[in-house]
Amino acid sequence: MFKNLTVVDHPLVQAKLTIMRQKDTKPPEFRRLLREISVLLAYEVTRDTKLTMARIETPITFMDAPVPAEKDPCIVSILRAGNGILDGMLDLLPTARVGHIGLYRDPISLAAVEYYFKLPQDVSERHVIVVDPMLATGNSSVAAVSRLLEVNPLSIKFVCLVAAPEGVKAMLDSHPQIPVFAAALDSHLNDHSYIVPGLGDAGDRLYGTR
Ligand code: URA
Repeated sequence: MFKNLTVVDHPLVQAKLTIMRQKDTKPPEFRRLLREISVLLAYEVTRDTKLTMARIETPITFMDAPVPAEKDPCIVSILRAGNGILDGMLDLLPTARVGHIGLYRDPISLAAVEYYFKLPQDVSERHVIVVDPMLATGNSSVAAVSRLLEVNPLSIKFVCLVAAPEGVKAMLDSHPQIPVFAAALDSHLNDHSYIVPGLGDAGDRLYGTR
């Protein structure tokens, strides 16, 4: 449906997401499931990692074996809900570097305003994976990617849990070169810009703030 979108339709991802969507699922289980799904999303999003051969010694003999050819990726969390995906990605990619972007929506202009931006110094030598569970209007995700393009990383991919068509289209319109990975593409946004059927406010459900 969207040429920039990969839906990770692995049965384990889908079954875990179903539990997350249910309104009675409490923060500890919600956090755990997001962490588990994020491991599986990290597996998919790193599928094109370049390898090179290195000489190693096993207990039996020497061999040429594959090792990563480039620096570890940098995972960039869009605060605060992005941290829920970040934790799972770091389980699979423990040597990845981490960046954080904080954005809020200006109540008058509705534009995304940056309040926090911290990346590894050598991010221009790394592939970046931007994470935020809900790709809704796409305003903050598009703004985050625009900001990251300024620091010139090797590449950028965007990973979310649930995407709305409006958000995927916004990303495609602004950044057609950025691949988007999601566990589900939902129906639409409601009048409050929540994803339908979605799972509610991901940050609140992760951290029990409502
Ligand atoms: N952010 C959320 O947490 N949930 C939505 O449905 C949309 C944006």
